[in-house]
Amino acid sequence: MIPREVIEEIRERTDIVDVVSQVVTLRRKGSSLMGLCPFHQEKSPSFSVVPAKGIFHCFGCQEGGDVFAFVQKTQGVSFFEAVKELGEAVGLAVEERELTREERQRMRARASLHEVLGLAADWFHAGLVARPSGRDAMAYLNNRGIDRETVEKWKIGYAPDSWDGLLTHLHSRGVSADQAIQAGLARPSRNRQGSAYDLFRGRIIIPIEDSRGRVVAFGGRILPRLDEGDTPKYVNSPETPVYRKSSVLFGLPRARSAIQRRGRCLIVEGYFDVISLHQAGFPEAIATCGTALTVEHLKALRPLTRAVVALFDADEAGLRAAERSLPLFVDAGIEARRLELGDAKDPDEYVQSAGAEALEAALDRSEPLLDLVLRRAIAQYGSTPGARRDSLARVAPILRRMDGPSRRAAVSLVARRLHLVEHEVDEAAGLAVGERSDVSRPARWRGSKHLNHILWLLIHYPGPVIPVLTEPSVDPTRITAHPGALQTVGRLISGDSLAAIQADLDDSDLQRVLRAAAARSDLYTEEAAAGAARQILTRLEVDSLRGKLVDADRGLAACDPSRDWTKYAGLLEEKKRILTEKKRLEKLLRTGGAS
Ligand code: UTP
Ligand code: MN
Repeated sequence: MIPREVIEEIRERTDIVDVVSQVVTLRRKGSSLMGLCPFHQEKSPSFSVVPAKGIFHCFGCQEGGDVFAFVQKTQGVSFFEAVKELGEAVGLAVEERELTREERQRMRARASLHEVLGLAADWFHAGLVARPSGRDAMAYLNNRGIDRETVEKWKIGYAPDSWDGLLTHLHSRGVSADQAIQAGLARPSRNRQGSAYDLFRGRIIIPIEDSRGRVVAFGGRILPRLDEGDTPKYVNSPETPVYRKSSVLFGLPRARSAIQRRGRCLIVEGYFDVISLHQAGFPEAIATCGTALTVEHLKALRPLTRAVVALFDADEAGLRAAERSLPLFVDAGIEARRLELGDAKDPDEYVQSAGAEALEAALDRSEPLLDLVLRRAIAQYGSTPGARRDSLARVAPILRRMDGPSRRAAVSLVARRLHLVEHEVDEAAGLAVGERSDVSRPARWRGSKHLNHILWLLIHYPGPVIPVLTEPSVDPTRITAHPGALQTVGRLISGDSLAAIQADLDDSDLQRVLRAAAARSDLYTEEAAAGAARQILTRLEVDSLRGKLVDADRGLAACDPSRDWTKYAGLLEEKKRILTEKKRLEKLLRTGGAS
């Protein structure tokens, strides 16, 4: 047991606000500080710290305790380990014998691994900035736009092309080959008993830090001129007692305060994407260490922000990774969006060539991750009624996992994309797994009033209507999001006959909608046809503005004017612009004119 006085002394010397602030952003409120609870999912702060009492308490989930409990719960360590760690931080060594044998061993092993890794990081860094052998590597970094300050800040290094450079250096500091192997820096050699060789050779070295900023691993990138084709681009540290890829997020300790301040996090794929984004003014960027996102990663993120934008590659692997991550985000209560960077290879390349402003503008165009999943489902299954049910089945489990407001927004998005009524989506999503067998009651698609009228006009009075619909200001995707219907509109505009179109369709809902439009008579007169088409387009425009208004309001609600006034003012301006335009169009509709 640790003597009571020692524990009290450590408690006395430790500032609970300092400790908690490493994990939670706190804001003063009277005699306490409030923040978002790291132990449960919430949107408004109910987690409080009372410095005078040395305690924390969450009014939401009732989690609470003293500073030791906080360390135990957030780091998953025992009481002894928590006391020892906080003791070290305030210069009070806790007697080793107070710990159990197992804890003592674990702690010693971890501490020495951190030391060894720290020594290695220093040596690699010197190898880049101070030794001649690092010159090419430095030139390469400069060439790809990484400046000297960034090299220092991230402590980027270079491992010379040698089998035992690091081992020799570590040996001179009293580190055995065995310890180097345990730290993931060397490998035992097969041919000679008891000896080892450096894992990183002739590579640029990126130190990987854990959430508390301690070096726990390295990524080693080959220099292009040494790339012989079959050598992997990166060599990475293996997992060790201090490094688990499933929980470490590259860049997190450096991004933490920016993520909190900016209220968002950018997740990218590569080390260099993170480094380059930070340099370009996006210090809220992080990456996984070459692995898929895990629940543990999100546990580390959740206390910091509820808004994440994934900038994954647009190749199949990147898309699939983005798709797989959606349920994790949903479970963590994080709103995940996704940004595709067009032709750019990756965010690094994008920001280096297009610049920070372009990236910021692009970020405004990010889409909900759910949209990507829906699009992929629709592309895979098609848009026949049965296919749409398949798509619905694919997203239903995700919807089921969502809570209140985010679920409403998601249901409405799914309904729009799949051309279903919201309650049909609700119904499918609300069912408990394995219960009731009528889950897939066929949802009949009936088009929308606007679409059906446009179809009617195109079928009956193509002459006056086609010129209206082909005006450059018309966005045909606004008429319908149904891919088949949109295609049908296109075919009618280009003069294909109804019979030919019907013959090509295998979507019976769409066939029925077309049939109904053709069969209906006297909806508009020929004289009124062009005007009617214009009116409908204006109405669709108003609808789309309504959607944008909802988005703008959502943006405003999520933005704290006291923290980011510029952004808030921008959103207000945007909202005003939308409102003005909407009013103008509505007036136009009332007076019988059209845009
Ligand atoms: P990238 O190939 O996009 O790497 O792989 P990058 O960091 O952008 O490197 P540059 O710009 O080409 O220099 C993304 C991530 O996948 C992991 C690494 O974590 C890398 O940062 N990876 C990639 C590996 O672990 N091994 C590899 O061989 C390649
Ligand atoms: Mn890259």
